[in-house]
Amino acid sequence: MKGIILAGGSGTRLYPLTLVTSKQLLPVYDKPMIYYPLSTLMLAGIKDILIISTPADTPRFEKLLGDGSQFGIKLSYKVQPSPDGLAQAFTLGKDFINGEPCAMILGDNIFYGNGFTKLLKQAAADARNGKAISIEEKPEHPKSNYAVTGLYFYPAGVSEKAAQVKPSARGEIEITSLNDMYLQEGNLDVQLLGRGYAWLDAGTMQSLVDASNYVKMVEERQGVSISAPEEIAYIHGWIDKDKLLDAAKHYGKSPYGQHLKSVAEGKLRY
Ligand code: TTP
Repeated sequence: MKGIILAGGSGTRLYPLTLVTSKQLLPVYDKPMIYYPLSTLMLAGIKDILIISTPADTPRFEKLLGDGSQFGIKLSYKVQPSPDGLAQAFTLGKDFINGEPCAMILGDNIFYGNGFTKLLKQAAADARNGKAISIEEKPEHPKSNYAVTGLYFYPAGVSEKAAQVKPSARGEIEITSLNDMYLQEGNLDVQLLGRGYAWLDAGTMQSLVDASNYVKMVEERQGVSISAPEEIAYIHGWIDKDKLLDAAKHYGKSPYGQHLKSVAEGKLRY
């Protein structure tokens, strides 16, 4: 399965923070926001990932994350000329997806919880635990208390389907329209996140600070660093100890670098 991180957008709700940089490069406590969705896709076992961003920011992501070899994965990049909607990821990513199944995560979505890896692997393997009855984009009066998060798993053929989505009233190629096409065919399944999971969308001032505070709290209480892609790569056996130590050195004396060093030295139990 392939994976896409959609890390463009205009980030207007975070102005002036995002006037000259991408929202997904802003810090969420001790690491750039994009480390979180990258970790999520890696936890799902996905090793071939496309990062889509704006013309100005795509080179910055490339500078930060490179070709992915330090994480034992393959990263590629694609520019979204203007923020025309989430489902555009699949038409922009058509060559990358190459007719295979593909997952997509929004660059500002942070997931954390015990058993999340298992849940992700189930979703990637198509074993979902529920059927959606209807789905609406930003409803004025929601029909239920369930919200759709920014993490989606699609079967082969998603680019062709996304190409059929017509722009909505607000002019966007909506992911909800794409998902509704699967629903109409009886092919839309959902995986419910129970009480044990935290899902944060760090797109507003409040939620950005909440996300930082949440990560700080979890990391301090548990004495670990969460959503560290190099650590996930090491646990999966995608990079060896030497490579992890190189990564630790690259981050210098920062707590993140120190954490990777502890992992390499076997000082943490899982
Ligand atoms: P949003 O939060 O809906 O939009 P935004 O990031 O442009 O922010 P704002 O509402 O403050 O102006 O986007 C959700 C995620 O999807 C976010 O990570 C940015 C990304 N995105 C794209 O990459 N391309 C797009 O066309 C859109 C609409 C969003």
